[in-house]
Amino acid sequence: MSKTETQSTCIVRVGLDDRAYDIHIGPGLIDRAARLISDVCGDARCAVITDENVAAAQLPRLEAAFAGTAQLAGTIVLPAGEATKCFDQLEHVCDRLLAIGVERGDVVIALGGGVVGDLAGFAASILRRGVRMVQIPTSLLAQVDSSVGGKTGINTVRGKNLIGAFHQPVLVLADTDALQTLPDRQLRAGYAEVVKYGLLGDRPFFNWLDANIDTVLARNEPSVLHAVETSCLAKASVVAADEREHGQRALLNLGHTFGHALEAWAGYSDRLLHGEAISIGMVMAFRYSERTGLCEPGLADVVEAHFKRAALPTRVVDIPSNTKGGDSPAIDDLMTLMAQDKKVERGQLKFILVRDIGSAFVSSDVESDDLRNFIESELAR
Ligand SMILES: NC(=O)c1ccc[n+]([C@@H]2O[C@H](COP(=O)([O-])OP(=O)(O)OC[C@H]3O[C@@H](n4cnc5c(N)ncnc54)[C@H](O)[C@@H]3O)[C@@H](O)[C@H]2O)c1
Ligand SMILES: [Zn+2]
Repeated sequence: MSKTETQSTCIVRVGLDDRAYDIHIGPGLIDRAARLISDVCGDARCAVITDENVAAAQLPRLEAAFAGTAQLAGTIVLPAGEATKCFDQLEHVCDRLLAIGVERGDVVIALGGGVVGDLAGFAASILRRGVRMVQIPTSLLAQVDSSVGGKTGINTVRGKNLIGAFHQPVLVLADTDALQTLPDRQLRAGYAEVVKYGLLGDRPFFNWLDANIDTVLARNEPSVLHAVETSCLAKASVVAADEREHGQRALLNLGHTFGHALEAWAGYSDRLLHGEAISIGMVMAFRYSERTGLCEPGLADVVEAHFKRAALPTRVVDIPSNTKGGDSPAIDDLMTLMAQDKKVERGQLKFILVRDIGSAFVSSDVESDDLRNFIESELAR
């Protein structure tokens, strides 16, 4: 993993031997996409997969970039939202890609957030036994997390991301201009993943975010660039060291065991976005670590205060009630949902806990009774 800079854009290299690739970060990258893609993929034909919101906001820029070339073979526009990550849409996408005439040497481009990236990446991994893919992430979450690292997949009724493949992109173009059209709530949810990198391994970055949170959330160019770049450097180094999540990559799940249980309980709906769920989850991870004497008292309050400044929820009670009104999760439901999390190995839950801000570690010895008592106290907060 390495970094080079030119004017207002920078390049982070994901060092994976023969599957290494560059993440370009900066403004105007979509407008230069045709050239940047042909630098890596030659004259391969490209098929774009996007969703209806991103098609309205960003697709014209990408089409303009390809104007006058014979590179663009076709575009597939999907419904927006998590429900699109399903078998039906996967079948639809594969069928359309074949109809467009995508061949083994061609390229699939994912233009969108994590939903489009995960589905398009999975389709690329199985189409003709694997075609190359380029990620053009347009949400903050996708720019700092889902577009890098090669995890692709879909959901089933049995859970999220349970069917999928590792399929690294050959290029990532994180165009910070694209964030200008991202809805504010989505920006804030993605910001939770940015803060995660500070909390899990980079205290100076957390301090920088604490000083610059307002300019990042105002989408001020240099601040957004620094936040995305630092996040991508962190993700790239973890992925290069542990591509298949045998060890260190699990640290990226800080706050996610608690967060996933809350998301599942809320029905993966607009009621609680992923970034909002892990904002609560990360504060819980700090509070649990404090309670068990792993880190000094007061840190959970520091972390919570930061997320509150981003108007993110930090406690279970902050989750808005459903349309029927006034429900909250039952302790047994949350315990069951946590036990179903992918981070379970032979029945033993793996938790990411902390010794300090910037110092997370994987723990396999969280006692079920302690956890239950802790969650009960959290539900009462
Ligand atoms: N593969 C991985 O490593 C990984 C990591 C984290 C999350 N994920 C997955 O990512 C998904 C969440 O991604 P997300 O938060 O980007 O959600 P998303 O793809 O649903 O995008 C959020 C919303 O913002 C809209 N949008 C995106 N970019 C826009 C833009 N520039 N302008 C206007 N609207 C825009 C989308 O249409 C959508 O409505 C989940 O399915 C999650 O499982 C994957
Ligand atoms: Zn996440």
